[in-house]
Amino acid sequence: MITSVVPADPPRPAEGLPASAVLTVDAPLPEERPAPAAPDVPWWRDAVIYQVYVRSFQDSDGDGIGDLPGVRARLPYLKRLGVDGVWLNPFYPSPQHDHGYDVADYKGVDPMFGTLEDFDLLVEDCRKLGLRLVLDTVPNHCSAEHPWFLEALAAAPGSTSRARFHFADGRGADGELPPNNWRAMFGGPAWSRITEPDGTPGQWYLHMFTPEQPDLNWRNPEVPVEFEKVLRFWLDRGVDGFRIDVAAGLFKHPELPDSPDPEADERTRDSVNPLAWNQPEVHEVWRSWRAICEEYTALDGRQRLLVGEASVPTPAEQAKYVRGDELHQAFFFHLLHAPWDAEHFHQVIDAAVRDITATGSTVTWVLNNHDQVRTTTRFGSPERARAAALLMLSLPGAAYLYQGEELGLPEVDDLPDEVITDPIFHRTGNRKGIRDGCRVPLPWAGTEAPYGFGPEGSAPTWLPQPASFARHTAERALADHTSPYHLYREALHLRRLLPQLGEGTLRWIETPPNVLAFARGDGLLVATNFGTVPAPAPVTGQPLLSSGPCPAGVLPPATTAWWIQPRL
Ligand code: GLC
Repeated sequence: MITSVVPADPPRPAEGLPASAVLTVDAPLPEERPAPAAPDVPWWRDAVIYQVYVRSFQDSDGDGIGDLPGVRARLPYLKRLGVDGVWLNPFYPSPQHDHGYDVADYKGVDPMFGTLEDFDLLVEDCRKLGLRLVLDTVPNHCSAEHPWFLEALAAAPGSTSRARFHFADGRGADGELPPNNWRAMFGGPAWSRITEPDGTPGQWYLHMFTPEQPDLNWRNPEVPVEFEKVLRFWLDRGVDGFRIDVAAGLFKHPELPDSPDPEADERTRDSVNPLAWNQPEVHEVWRSWRAICEEYTALDGRQRLLVGEASVPTPAEQAKYVRGDELHQAFFFHLLHAPWDAEHFHQVIDAAVRDITATGSTVTWVLNNHDQVRTTTRFGSPERARAAALLMLSLPGAAYLYQGEELGLPEVDDLPDEVITDPIFHRTGNRKGIRDGCRVPLPWAGTEAPYGFGPEGSAPTWLPQPASFARHTAERALADHTSPYHLYREALHLRRLLPQLGEGTLRWIETPPNVLAFARGDGLLVATNFGTVPAPAPVTGQPLLSSGPCPAGVLPPATTAWWIQPRL
């Protein structure tokens, strides 16, 4: 059982590496780095937050599933990496049909992940280490096992219990057809029919994801009141903010009419049904949540953060979510969806900086998360993934990292069908868009599964780790100064030391095709070569930091470099 942030294990050298090179994953923390930004600048504006997918981060009790004491035990690793805070994926009581995004109790901890006491200890440790703690909140839908939904099933059509959800009579002679043609994001119709308490086929309810995730009706005043209580429950326990799941959801067109293009609804995880997403009323909710955050800040001076998962078609549309009195930030997914292509990166960076900064917010960059194919695989090589990361960490604004990207983990794309847990696979019958491959438990140390994920003699990890993970353990990464871990660490520490890397300005510099280059503030130059042949470096001299070997005067393919150049 891991119970303390101070490790018990003595340092062990990674296989094949000299003991002198070894800095263990669990070594005590070095001295504090200088504090970031000026005290009056809200911390979140240029923060780098590390996403912890709790069930795959660190298992403390040997059941093969990560948990909160496991997260606690690894906080020193995250502190040493140099991130500003941690976002935890949902750990609330849940039947786990969508790994916690089906919440049965918004104010508890699932026993699988620990207890509320473990959570409180985690808050305390984060505070001691100066790490911000951001929780996931899931307001669009709850679990079909949430007491409200169970009550609604037992109640009559038209009851106040059903009014908290979207229940409707079916179409057709006997109500045998769904109330409209909407498709669910994870395959199949967005409606399921219930059996009424008297045993007769009954009404239908709306679920934009799986049938186990009924959508809440945000036009019912009880819903916002309940969520306000949920926010306060966690704010009172000391959290620094919330990541908001499906932040462009919540409200649906009041009449629930047919979608003009139902087929489109299933083609992408982005929110294409104009009637089910991005309704104007949602902005009122974000204004009220922002007011709650401000209220807490007024009490103790600590800034709280709301960061939304707002999948909307354009950066301009996204900008509406981060207006001054709404969310502080919204993930900028257009970079995450960009192919490895200089022109494409140029366009999305340009649009983000223009549209988002015009709101007074900062862009929230992201290249990896628990829903996407990891960059090492998506961009086609570890070198490109590293170059993209170093490019992202030089952009103005905040950034989110997903656990394991600092270890260069690839997508595990050969998991056998029998172990796949993603509801997308089970609802569509195919592997397109499935997410298990980026959720495989992290390799920490050693040469065999579970690679330090759990204590000695643990149950098998909930998803099997491939043999290739032996090359990607944190232990090896720390010992190898050319590993992605050290690249991320250097970049994160430079972000604290160089004022140019804060919010600041971005000025494009003319380059040959396939190369992007820009100046940040006064004197920092960044360039990425997206091509397959070396390009001339935009400046002379050795780079300050580069994502791979980078001799003076040359920018090798699939490489990003940072240079300090006075008087640019
Ligand atoms: C968000 C989450 C995803 C989840 C879905 C439904 O997109 O990131 O993991 O499956 O919402 O809650």
